[in-house]
Amino acid sequence: MSNSPHKDLLGAAQTVRANAYAPYSKFQVGAAVLGVDGNVYVGCNVENAAYPEGQCAEASAISAMVAGGCTEIAQICIVKKGGGRVAPCGGCRQKINEFAGADVPIFVQGKDGALQSYTLGELLPIAFGKTNLETDK
Ligand code: THU
Repeated sequence: MSNSPHKDLLGAAQTVRANAYAPYSKFQVGAAVLGVDGNVYVGCNVENAAYPEGQCAEASAISAMVAGGCTEIAQICIVKKGGGRVAPCGGCRQKINEFAGADVPIFVQGKDGALQSYTLGELLPIAFGKTNLETDK
């Protein structure tokens, strides 16, 4: 597992962030997923007037990956407008866990704009995943 981001990952997340539909929070987020197929899949947050129906950028990017025929994440990068750090929310950590191993790097921009790297295992320790369903019956 490479610990340095794929060369297109940050740029893809920044580009799609411009399309974020966030009229309520004004908090625009872009996410780019590198699939194990080598393709970069992108997504932005999509809010809704019925607030709980909004979708995070990571969920959008994961949906694009699955729709593209890939079900394994190699890397993921998340950025917000205006710099500053956006760590994936708890629900998105679980969504990432469905398609990524504990060693998969999650890149987020720090306050200085530089990318910081965390593994999924660091952000979601003792995760519940599909193996639990196989072994905990
Ligand atoms: N948001 C994301 O897109 N990803 C996250 O991991 C954190 C939050 C979005 C959801 C909502 O549209 C806005 O940011 C404010 O919470």
